[in-house]
Amino acid sequence: MRNWLIILGFTLMPGLSMAQENSVKLDSVKIDHDDKPSLQRGAKLFVNYCLSCHSAAYMRYNRMAKDLDIPKRLVEQYMMFTADKIGGLMKSNMPPEEAKRAFGTVPPDLTLIARSRTPEWIYTYLRSFYRDKTSPSGWNNIVFPQVAMPFILYRLQGVQSAVFDKDKTTGAKRFDKYELVQKGAMTPQEYAVAMRDLTNYLAYMAEPAKIVRHHIGRYAMVFLGLLLVLVVLLKHEYWRDVK
Ligand code: HEC
Repeated sequence: MRNWLIILGFTLMPGLSMAQENSVKLDSVKIDHDDKPSLQRGAKLFVNYCLSCHSAAYMRYNRMAKDLDIPKRLVEQYMMFTADKIGGLMKSNMPPEEAKRAFGTVPPDLTLIARSRTPEWIYTYLRSFYRDKTSPSGWNNIVFPQVAMPFILYRLQGVQSAVFDKDKTTGAKRFDKYELVQKGAMTPQEYAVAMRDLTNYLAYMAEPAKIVRHHIGRYAMVFLGLLLVLVVLLKHEYWRDVK
């Protein structure tokens, strides 16, 4: 009996934690591995704004250049801030001890983050930072409360504050809406597109083989199409004598 209770507990646990996470509505985002311009813009944002703290230590610069059709020369000139060789891994230069001292925790590797968190979560997270004077970094996040990451994109998005109200039945504090208190370099629409590009890039990085699979898939469809024509012709040939 006790064993059964333990098993039941473990089965329900993921459900419970998901229920908690789902309390914030996540925005949907279009992920498209064939949209090369979007992936290129996302890669540019990633190396400029994220790589200073986070690594993507399972990704190499030359793989990215090949998959996203970025000329190697451009990658070497404008994107390789943390490696000397184009075959190098996308590692951050920040020593973990220093990060721990500055943020209280080491920024996690982002290569597979789109798989562990889902693209919808990341897209919402990157647009959910708000000013919070009580937090050590001065920032907080609606989908990741008490997050230790400072909001480094505020120059692009602008500074927003969050307005909360009370849930009528439970009396709990509930997020209502954002208010833009300081304009950024981008309009809200431009910022949303930029974060879609960045999320698209993170989703690509979590599964680069998807691009190869799409190519193979296209060839397979063409092959099946040709086969269909041949088979139909063959059928006519066989039935000609029977009719
Ligand atoms: C100044 C350092 C810094 C920069 C720059 C930075 N981050 Fe972070 N990030 C952090 C830290 C520290 C955490 C850990 C937060 C925590 O656990 O409370 C974090 C957490 C995250 C998480 C959540 C990971 C999880 O635990 O699931 C994501 C996603 C993320 N960062 C994405 C980004 C992206 C995308 C960029 C570039 C636009 C970026 N970060 C730039 C410091 C940084």
